[in-house]
Amino acid sequence: MPASNFNQLQAELANKNPRIVLKKALELYDNIAISFSGSEDVVLIDMAVKIRKDIQVFSLDTGRLHPETYRFIEKVRKHYKIDIELLTPDFDILDSFVKNKGLFSFYEDGHQECCGIRKVEPLKRKLANVDAWITGQRKDQSLDTRQDIPEVELDMGFSTEQHSLLKFNPLINWNSMQVWDYIEAHQVPYNQLHEKGFISIGCEPCTRPVLPNQHERAGRWWWEAGNKKECGLHSKNIK
Ligand code: ADX
Ligand code: SF4
Repeated sequence: MPASNFNQLQAELANKNPRIVLKKALELYDNIAISFSGSEDVVLIDMAVKIRKDIQVFSLDTGRLHPETYRFIEKVRKHYKIDIELLTPDFDILDSFVKNKGLFSFYEDGHQECCGIRKVEPLKRKLANVDAWITGQRKDQSLDTRQDIPEVELDMGFSTEQHSLLKFNPLINWNSMQVWDYIEAHQVPYNQLHEKGFISIGCEPCTRPVLPNQHERAGRWWWEAGNKKECGLHSKNIK
């Protein structure tokens, strides 16, 4: 998309509600995919199937998700009668990583390497074959890394010289309460972990419920210092 059209699109979608952003994204691109984490971003799927039946959805199956999340992905697949493509890590890379460092090296030397292998590399492979993707990122999920994200952006993390990729973030201006109101009002299925105190949900060894009044992000990679925690999917959020 030429820069002038992109700027126009960004202006057109600024501060628009999730449905309008999603509708525009699905109108503009046939080969576009929703990146579904198995948490409350399920609302994107609920909204999208009402706009277009043949939506493309994928999840990064790191091999380390909670059992509840695997069950939930399956539930969503059946509920909406859609395919959910599960993207798995490259066997050889993962095999040598685990042989070298075992299953919990992230507690010792940080999550970047494991996330790189289990999430970023498979995502990169997928994104090379779509024109745009849709995420459930929201500003209120991270006060330190997600405040400046627009409704649509040129994905500087995954675009290449030959292939420029747009990233749509329809939920960006919604807060958690709006998302949960939607889930309740539309009877959207949700991950059972939310009934066990989890707010943000990632991989099992790297996510825990938070204490009252703690920010949801505090339950992710909690052993690491600093607030600027992203796993590589959205690493360009870190300035
Ligand atoms: S993360 O980068 O810290 O893991 P977060 O859990 O906040 O991300 O989720 C934000 C958005 O990133 C999700 O709504 C989804 O679009 C995408 N995402 C995160 N984890 C996954 C996953 N395992 N599979 C697919 N998409 C994901
Ligand atoms: Fe590995 Fe944890 Fe990252 Fe999952 S969140 S890919 S287990 S470091």
